[in-house]
Amino acid sequence: MTKARLFSGMQPSADSLQIGNYIGALMQWRDMQDAYDAFFAVVDLHAITVPQDAAQLRDKTRRTAAQYIAAGIEPDKSTLYVQSQVPAHAELAWILSTLTGFGEAQRMTQFKDKSQRYGADSSSVGLFTYPVLMAADILLYQTKVVPVGDDQKQHVELTRTLAERFNSRFGETFQVPDPVIQKETARIYDLQAPTSKMSKSAESQAGVLYLLDDINVTAKKIMRAVTDNDGTVRYDREAKPGVANLLTIYAALTGRTVESIEDEYAGRGYGDFKKGLRDVVVAEFEPVRARALELLEDPAELDRALAQNADRASEAAEETLAAVYERVGLLRRG
Ligand code: TYM
Repeated sequence: MTKARLFSGMQPSADSLQIGNYIGALMQWRDMQDAYDAFFAVVDLHAITVPQDAAQLRDKTRRTAAQYIAAGIEPDKSTLYVQSQVPAHAELAWILSTLTGFGEAQRMTQFKDKSQRYGADSSSVGLFTYPVLMAADILLYQTKVVPVGDDQKQHVELTRTLAERFNSRFGETFQVPDPVIQKETARIYDLQAPTSKMSKSAESQAGVLYLLDDINVTAKKIMRAVTDNDGTVRYDREAKPGVANLLTIYAALTGRTVESIEDEYAGRGYGDFKKGLRDVVVAEFEPVRARALELLEDPAELDRALAQNADRASEAAEETLAAVYERVGLLRRG
């Protein structure tokens, strides 16, 4: 039996991924790659919807790919590649943009947030059509499942709408994909502002745990995480967002239940709890960081693996794109 397709991706928008990317997405990817025919892209075309330095973007792209591999994505098993190396992404995005309503795109909350942050004049049209490119990423591979964090849910819903619209207008062409969102870990919060989502592009770095940070820096950030005055290690998202977030991270990385962790730290202070979490995070990050840095020492080898995988991706993508061009009525080269 052929395996169902899985697609997901991350932006190379920082030198390192953060723990939200790791828990909210990468851990699921790693667990799912055996059961699915999985495609994992480093979405550099998405990253340039906000200004990037060219040399740094290339570096961040390699670093992101290295972190996928270091975290356990196997390039011989899964198709791990760089989005811009497969031109079909941009080509399908154009076609889909002609099916997307202006108002529909305007309702995307991530665009609203980002354009507010950068201001209307410095927000590009690319930022506006970002979700359409994301739909192209997913639909090109006849994807069945899309494992993502909670912040991408609206984009996957738009993808479903566009697939259904295309199918009803031009005939069955696209698989309609389902988002896969792990409820408990779908949103990891900033350690200093535990009501805001943790993000690579956060203004302050103090509450963001980076996979590639020096382990001592990570340890310090955990010890300084914002808690509350209540003093008990108890999960209460509303009243104790800081502690709840730390408990979520602890449970996700150990595979334990939140209750068993609460029990372990009953009657003990936050200091002990944070030390415990620090040890868990350091033990998880250390080998990933070491492996990623090792892979980055040989960029030519990494580039070769990515190129091979891009060939594999292109083959799958071209099949869908050809069907799309045919249905839409574009004249084939004779
Ligand atoms: P990006 O690069 O912002 O994030 C990559 C993945 O990490 C998840 N994530 C989080 N999960 C839990 N808590 C957090 N604090 C947190 N921060 C990030 C995201 O939900 C995502 O799954 N638009 C996408 C990239 C993309 C994509 C795609 C994803 C482009 N095309 C096609 C899936 C399918 C993005 O910016 O992710």
